[in-house]
Amino acid sequence: MTKKPAKPKSAIRAAITGVHGYVPPDVLTNAELARMVDTSDQWIVERTGIKERHILKGKGLGTSHMGAEAVRGLLKKTGTGPGEVDLLICATTTPDFVFPSTANLICDMADIRGIGSFDVQAACSGFVYALTIAARFIESGAYRKIVVVGADKMSSIIDYTDRATCVLFGDGAGAVLVEPNRKYGILDTLIASDGAGMKHLHQKAGGSRMPPTAETVAKRLHFVHQEGAAVYKFAIARMADVAIELMARNCLTKDSVDWLVPHQANRRIIEATAERVGLPANRVMVTIQKYGNTTAATIPLCLWDYEQKLKAGDRLLLAAFGGGFTWGGIYMTWAYDGASRAVKVKRGRKAVG
Ligand code: ACO
Repeated sequence: MTKKPAKPKSAIRAAITGVHGYVPPDVLTNAELARMVDTSDQWIVERTGIKERHILKGKGLGTSHMGAEAVRGLLKKTGTGPGEVDLLICATTTPDFVFPSTANLICDMADIRGIGSFDVQAACSGFVYALTIAARFIESGAYRKIVVVGADKMSSIIDYTDRATCVLFGDGAGAVLVEPNRKYGILDTLIASDGAGMKHLHQKAGGSRMPPTAETVAKRLHFVHQEGAAVYKFAIARMADVAIELMARNCLTKDSVDWLVPHQANRRIIEATAERVGLPANRVMVTIQKYGNTTAATIPLCLWDYEQKLKAGDRLLLAAFGGGFTWGGIYMTWAYDGASRAVKVKRGRKAVG
């Protein structure tokens, strides 16, 4: 009797098998900002959609504090021991130090020992970049459990006398567990950059080109410099371009995408992207009203917030744009029913003051 040929195995994909987030308890509202600079709740809501943002307070607390909170919660929720993690990647633009990396610090704080860990710097596209790298490590068979963190303490590089930037940003962290899966997971990734965009969005001092001096501090050069209108123009084009290219490459129509997960920089950019992709508001993740722009953390925080609504097999399109300029996107199928996994977390809330 001839042996029935074995069914070919489907490819190993990298799937997100858990997500957790952390936002610090202190909340900075538009009303409070209006007492600090010449702005108003109406201007901020109309131009950005942001109502409030969380700010990390406390001496000696950096981005790693929030990242470690998210990772500890993720490990607990997914029943993963620290010793099982093979690799940790942290996307951040606000590392605790120039070195060591924030990923190194998060590992130490979450009791994860002896594994490879490193930071990825791609501003607001950082999480998409880091998840793309994690996917390659899983697909190659090199690792089985990777933690990808997106975390930023934007309040550490924001000038709270500059109304054009201080209303936009907040602090937070999100972390996902990535594991091999033969049914669900990441199907396509796209990352891109254009360093010519630097002039529109950067931090002038503090790096090797302009190391910190008393003069750079006095001139307030350690804060985000953003030409809002120019960045807006590029962001609105690139976010939609990324989503549309991924849809074309994967023969997706607007009806076959269950969720658009856009970087949260401005509600108008999110809405314009959704419109070009053709998705109604109820299939677009939006958290900007309560967190503001948390840079590398926006996308994992969206996944955390919407986890209960996500079902196994849902098709997700992630799209991001940020400083660099950098941009990128990921097309994936979600690997589990979120309602069964989501843990109700009590989010603390107190006014900044
Ligand atoms: N309150 C009141 N007025 C303000 C404020 C404020 N907070 N901020 C700016 N204004 C004023 C400006 O001074 C300007 O006044 P003027 O006309 O008298 O000069 C006016 O409002 C209009 O300014 P614009 O910059 O044209 O306002 P715009 O409608 O473009 O909105 C915003 C500004 C919200 C910053 C927008 O440009 C934007 O969202 N840009 C993109 C941000 C982004 O996507 N960043 C990418 C990622 S960030 C990262 O990678 C780190």
